[in-house]
Amino acid sequence: MRIRVRPVTRLAGTIEVPGDKSVSHRAALLGAVASGRTEITGYLEGEDCLNTLRSVEKLGVLVTRKGPGHYLVDGAGLLGLREPEDVLDCGNSGTGARLLLGLLAGQPFWTFLTGDASLRRRPMKRVAEPLAAMGATFVGRQDGGRLPLGVRGARPLRAYVYASPVASAQIKTALLLAGLWADGPVSVTEPAQSRDHTERMLAGFGARLSVDGRTVTITPGRELRGQAVAVPGDISSAAFLLVAGALVADGRVTVARVGSNPTRAGLLDVLASMGARIERGGESSAVGEPVTDLTTASTALRGAHIGGELIPRLIDEVPILAVAACAAAGRTRITDAAELRVKESDRIGAIAAELARMGARVAERPDGLDIEGGARLRGATVGSGGDHRMAMALVVAGLIAEGETVVEDTACINTSYPGFVAAVNSLAGRVCAEELP
Ligand code: S3P
Repeated sequence: MRIRVRPVTRLAGTIEVPGDKSVSHRAALLGAVASGRTEITGYLEGEDCLNTLRSVEKLGVLVTRKGPGHYLVDGAGLLGLREPEDVLDCGNSGTGARLLLGLLAGQPFWTFLTGDASLRRRPMKRVAEPLAAMGATFVGRQDGGRLPLGVRGARPLRAYVYASPVASAQIKTALLLAGLWADGPVSVTEPAQSRDHTERMLAGFGARLSVDGRTVTITPGRELRGQAVAVPGDISSAAFLLVAGALVADGRVTVARVGSNPTRAGLLDVLASMGARIERGGESSAVGEPVTDLTTASTALRGAHIGGELIPRLIDEVPILAVAACAAAGRTRITDAAELRVKESDRIGAIAAELARMGARVAERPDGLDIEGGARLRGATVGSGGDHRMAMALVVAGLIAEGETVVEDTACINTSYPGFVAAVNSLAGRVCAEELP
């Protein structure tokens, strides 16, 4: 699939985006091992999260779809998962794979996991190593470092104190989930704070959890109780529409009911420092997650430095921030973001190569990018490399470019944002992005 994009001068309206991907994965997994029923509304029905639901079903959990995004998960309890008869396919999802590995580390049977070509290239040792130190066994490609991978859990796992070398919520979550089956506390310390959805949701399900600075500790011994989870809109999906609203000549875009958890909202801080006008309204809260309406309007942006502790708070927003940087006056420097090289694609290399095709002045650094803003983007044929966030960022680049842009390899958008093209067209009030076979 490809998307042909024509430039727009106007984007206006109020829209909701699909449910948060991180929160959806966690609701499915905690619901699976809770006692009783978890009722999830607003579940993201993108491929990544659907694969996680299919995986928990293969582990013996009853999942019932009641309507769009509405699921009942009848939890198996901490001791009730069963050895799956078949391989679990995580598709494109690093979160699905790594979180499942954490959960499976505590199950006394073998499970085999695989994924698509992108996921099979991504590093799994970052979770397999600490989980093995707790007592789980891994076999797989590259000495247990790449999918397909088999994991045999142990029960109990050993109590563990881990200082993670990277600020990764996936690593932190894998260990905290494994901690549910440990014989004592499991602590994870991160070099910088990553998203804390797991901590919030585990506490909501009744786990004993404590947070001290950048260290999180789970003390096992309590069962989880099924909950009602209302998943907020995904700020990482909203990011594409909000940046588009700020970049087009006549823009005013409101995304309603978006999760605004501060550990995810680095995008808003950066856009504000670039001079964007962002309005917040209608604050509420769902399962411990803050939710708000966010509005952006056309502004002349200036370049910014994006690095350090900000990076984990906006790690998935770098492709779209790079597009904003192209349109901003002056230089934007992105540092401390080497993690981007092991996402769904090498996003540093991909952003530099694809935006350069559109006339951007962008240079790759080992851990980030230098972007000289102000050069008008030109329509071109660009490729997503199978990476959903690259595909959507390039569509937004096409909206502000001169002439026509074709983004190739766009079926991947369904992993996180089904309906993205329709959302763009509805804000434009006409078909500016057209899906072609
Ligand atoms: C996620 C954590 C991030 C992020 C990913 C979702 C999560 O990855 O990039 O899209 O739900 O925990 P890392 O934790 O590896 O940085």
